[in-house]
Amino acid sequence: MSNKRYAVLVCQGTGCMSAGAEEVLSSLEREVARPNLKKSIQIKRTGCRGFCQRGPLIVVEPEGIFYSKVRPHDIPEIAMSLLPEGKPVKCLFYRDPITNKPIPCYRYMPFYSKQQRTVLRNCGNIDPENIDDYFAVGGYQALRKALFEMTPEQIIDEVKRSRLRGLGGAGFPTGQKWEACRRSPGEEKYVICNADEGNPGAFQDRSVMEGNPNSVLEGMIIAGYAIGAENGFIYTRAEYPLAVKRLKIAIAQARERGFLGKNILGSGLDFDIRIFQGGGALVCGESTALVLSIEGKRGMPKPLPRPRTTEVGLWGKPTLLNNVKTFANIPLIITYGSEWFASRGTEKSKGTAIFSWPAKWQIMV
Ligand SMILES: Cc1cc2nc3c(=O)[nH]c(=O)nc-3n(C[C@H](O)[C@H](O)[C@H](O)COP(=O)(O)O)c2cc1C
Ligand code: FES
Repeated sequence: MSNKRYAVLVCQGTGCMSAGAEEVLSSLEREVARPNLKKSIQIKRTGCRGFCQRGPLIVVEPEGIFYSKVRPHDIPEIAMSLLPEGKPVKCLFYRDPITNKPIPCYRYMPFYSKQQRTVLRNCGNIDPENIDDYFAVGGYQALRKALFEMTPEQIIDEVKRSRLRGLGGAGFPTGQKWEACRRSPGEEKYVICNADEGNPGAFQDRSVMEGNPNSVLEGMIIAGYAIGAENGFIYTRAEYPLAVKRLKIAIAQARERGFLGKNILGSGLDFDIRIFQGGGALVCGESTALVLSIEGKRGMPKPLPRPRTTEVGLWGKPTLLNNVKTFANIPLIITYGSEWFASRGTEKSKGTAIFSWPAKWQIMV
C-alpha cells in the first residue's frame, strides 16, 4: 500500500467486468477526484478475487472491508465512508449464507478463511497492468536468484525436490520433464506455456493470467534458463481477450525493465516470449495438437507411440510444455525453497490446487 490512508481495490477480472465493474471503477474515480478524498485514497484495479458470483467486488484496505454486488449508484456512499468520520456501508456487506450475519472483512468470510492461496496469493491485491506492483510483492526476485545464485542444474534439482507435478491435468513430475528437456540434444529449444484451458467451467488459468501475468512470465524465463531455451510461447485462446491484453502489457513492461529480451539483467541470458492465440478447440490443449497448431497445421494429437515433446516438439526441436499454474508456482519454489513447497498438499501431490466452477452450479459460499 502507498502512503495513502486507504487503498480501494476494484476487481477488474472478467467475471466482475461482465457484471458492470468498469462502470463501478469509473464512478469511483470520478468521486475520489474530489479534493477531500484525493489525498488519502488510492484506487487500484485488480484481477479476480475468486468470488465472481458476488461481483462487482470492492475491497477497502487496510481493514479488508468487502463490498459485493456494487453498483455505480453505491459509489457516493462508499466514497463518504472513506472520509475521516465515515462509517462502512453496511448494506453492501456480505452475509453468511447460514447465519445471515454480516461479515464486514473478507478475511473472516468462510470462502476466504478456508483457502490457502499460493499461486493466487497476489491476485486481487495487485494491479496486473503495472509491473511495479509485482515488484512490490517480491516479483522477479526469484529470477534474480535463479540467474545469479543458481546453476540450471540446481534449479532443476530444486524443482525436482519440490515434487511439483504438472497442473494441466496429467500430473507429470515437473522437475523430471525439465531435466529431460535440458538433456535432449540440440542447440535450439523452446518453452511453451499451455494456456488453452478448454475444459468447460475452468477459468483458473485465466484468473492467474488476468490477475498476475508476471508470475507466469517469471516462471517461463526461469524455465528458459534451466533448459537452455531462448524463445517461449504462451498458447492461449482468442476467447480470453482480457488475459491476452494483460499478458501483452506484462511482456512489454518486462522487456522495458530488462527481464525479457537480450542479456536479461546483464546475466548473458537471452529469452523472449510471444503470445499465440488459438481458435478455441478443446483438443488443441493436448500437447502434440498444440504444437501442430502453433506450427500453423491442423491441431490433432499425434498417435502413440511417438517421441516425447521434450525430444521432438515445436518445429522438431526439444520443447518444454507446462501449464500456466505450473509456471506460476516456479517463482515461489525458487524463493521459498522446495521444502516449503513440499510441506503442503498430499503425499502424492504436493502444493495446492485451484478450483473453479460455473456459477449455475449452486454452491453455498
Ligand atoms: C484433450 C486434451 C486437452 C488438454 N487441454 C489442456 C489445457 O487446456 N491446458 C493444459 O495445461 N493441459 C491440457 N492438457 C494436458 C496437456 O496435454 C499436457 O499434459 C500439459 O499441458 C502439460 O503441462 P503440465 O505438465 O504443467 O501439466 C490436455 C490434454 C488433453 C488430452
Ligand atoms: S472477476 Fe471479480 S471476483 Fe472474479
